[in-house]
Amino acid sequence: MPTVTTQTVERQAAEAGRKPGRRTDEVIAASMLSEGIYELVIRDSYVAATVQPAQFVNLYPADATMALPRPFGVAKVEGDDVTLIYQIVGAGTQEFSGLTAGDTVDVLGPLGNPFDTGKTANYVLVGGGLGVPPLLYAAQRLSERDDGTQVTSVFGYRDARFADGLVRPYADATHSITNADGNVVDLLNDIEDELGHGSQKPIILSCGPTPMMKAVAAWASKRSIPAQFSLEARMGCGYGACVACVVDTPQGRLKVCKDGPVFTTKQLGWEA
Ligand SMILES: Cc1cc2nc3c(=O)[nH]c(=O)nc-3n(C[C@H](O)[C@H](O)[C@H](O)COP(=O)(O)OP(=O)(O)OC[C@H]3O[C@@H](n4cnc5c(N)ncnc54)[C@H](O)[C@@H]3O)c2cc1C
Ligand code: FES
Repeated sequence: MPTVTTQTVERQAAEAGRKPGRRTDEVIAASMLSEGIYELVIRDSYVAATVQPAQFVNLYPADATMALPRPFGVAKVEGDDVTLIYQIVGAGTQEFSGLTAGDTVDVLGPLGNPFDTGKTANYVLVGGGLGVPPLLYAAQRLSERDDGTQVTSVFGYRDARFADGLVRPYADATHSITNADGNVVDLLNDIEDELGHGSQKPIILSCGPTPMMKAVAAWASKRSIPAQFSLEARMGCGYGACVACVVDTPQGRLKVCKDGPVFTTKQLGWEA
């Protein structure tokens, strides 16, 4: 009898047009990128085939005392392999940092709505801290296009510039700054002329701490630059079944996991 693997089930579900549920994926590689920041590569053909930039996956800790899954944006896709990049902030990420190649981890996704990248533009990826990983995948996907789309990365780090080398292969221009030298709005001010004179009009895609994104929204709206923000909210289920992730917006209370995580400046009421 042929062996039925998780990958077979995922493929069959995808072919039948159904989304697979929670499943067990193999860890292909795991390493530390910088102090406290880890890269985890899992094999998941369904996520690899379907995920779009800013969508996320839920990882389930094996420790049953942690009932809730932890959401992570996808940072890279290569074949059937999906890369996540995360920082240790608590018990869940501490547990994941112990995973090594050959281990398994339970996964659900992809979840949420992606960035709207339907226009040909200069996509300016403005990320702060661990908001950077989903923007790496946005850069990867945007760089595959041959419609004149450009990619400019503007990353702000606490200290180590852990993602500059990862985005460089996909970006037309890369800029970064650490807390010691300033923030991403300082960087946006520095490159404003460059953005204004490029062959494509800029569209900002941003992810990072909320105060940073609000400052980016104000900067962008003063210049009439369209911007989209992937919110980092504390989550429960990750797919709309609880109310752990609600945010107050001018349109009422929205669920970050199901209505987002991507919202426009206007949806959030973040205009200057
Ligand atoms: C859509 C989405 C995508 C994300 N992508 C990434 C990613 O690519 N890389 C990455 O490192 N992290 C990402 N995060 C954040 C990540 O989910 C949390 O850091 C993780 O769940 C923490 O789990 P823990 O058990 O280690 O920490 P916990 O013990 O649950 O919490 C430890 C501390 O972190 C804070 N915290 C936990 N979750 C969040 C959150 N979602 N936002 C802000 N603060 C939080 C808590 O308030 C607490 O202070 C993402 C979050 C969302 C909502
Ligand atoms: S996390 Fe449950 S509704 Fe969003």
